[in-house]
Amino acid sequence: MIDPPPGGQGRRPVGPTRREIVRGVRRELELAGLESPRVEAERLVAAALAMSVSELGLSGGERVDPAAAADVARAVSRRLEGQPLQHIEGTVDFRRVRLVSDGRALIPRPETEQLLDLVAAWRRARSAPVDALDIGVGSGAIAIALLDEGIAARVVGLDVSDDALDLARENARRASADGLGLRRCPPGIWSALETGEAFDLIISNPPYVTTPEWTDLDPVVRDHEPRVALDGGGDGLDVIRTVVSGAGTHLREGGALFLEIATSQAPAVLALLEAEAILTDCRVRVDLAGRPRFASARKGRSD
Ligand SMILES: C[S@@+](CC[C@H](N)C(=O)[O-])C[C@H]1O[C@@H](n2cnc3c(N)ncnc32)[C@H](O)[C@@H]1O
Repeated sequence: MIDPPPGGQGRRPVGPTRREIVRGVRRELELAGLESPRVEAERLVAAALAMSVSELGLSGGERVDPAAAADVARAVSRRLEGQPLQHIEGTVDFRRVRLVSDGRALIPRPETEQLLDLVAAWRRARSAPVDALDIGVGSGAIAIALLDEGIAARVVGLDVSDDALDLARENARRASADGLGLRRCPPGIWSALETGEAFDLIISNPPYVTTPEWTDLDPVVRDHEPRVALDGGGDGLDVIRTVVSGAGTHLREGGALFLEIATSQAPAVLALLEAEAILTDCRVRVDLAGRPRFASARKGRSD
């Protein structure tokens, strides 16, 4: 019997294995000084090969063809150029929802998932799903999670950014979040609502970084996430002040306001809330690490 010619039938695949590719990427990221090279290498390779990290782990011995290897190389170059991992992956998981993530809006953060824990606990004490207003809806993360978890039956999402509203619309469609209504608002926010329009829940993860802090942010954040999503003005409180000033008017009796804030802002935000006579039970709340990262208040009676 004559042996098959090189490249013909019976030729064994020669590319590197998935495991070898991950090892090589990890070395590149290590040399570039990235903080978590192993985790990032796995996530980048998995994203480029269009599979999950666990699928990648279970199939490490399989060979990677040249076209797929080129996709991995492109993903690694983007990361080494300083693009956020989540933009390269194209999606980010927030609570139970998978969201598209790109430069149109802030990448949803794990801290914000903890804000949803506080809201879910508040909601459990009530008899029915609530009507909610999400100020600074961004990618739609909070609003879509509220609907997905049955915390809210209807959410109005406001944002000053058309790009963010675009992304929120796309994410709502993908998540079949039919209860989300999106509106563009001016920086003063409240004129986007009808007179007398009121909600059981007002929630906001507003831009709260101070302008000097924004200048000093890690370039992966400063250069790739929208400034309007981060920069809250000289003391970081510009949008928080606007939210707090109108929340009482647009909350139903017994309704609640929940905010994500910076640790350093806790006393100032508490003072802003307490200065609104219509708001009661004003509180600063801590995250899982014990840092004051959230604030809440109620209007009138508790439920
Ligand atoms: C920190 S991001 C939060 C995005 C999203 N809610 C999340 O938690 O991932 C803040 C959002 O507020 C929007 N924003 C900034 N200034 C605003 C204002 N004055 N009124 C309403 N939205 C504003 C930004 O465009 C951005 O989408």
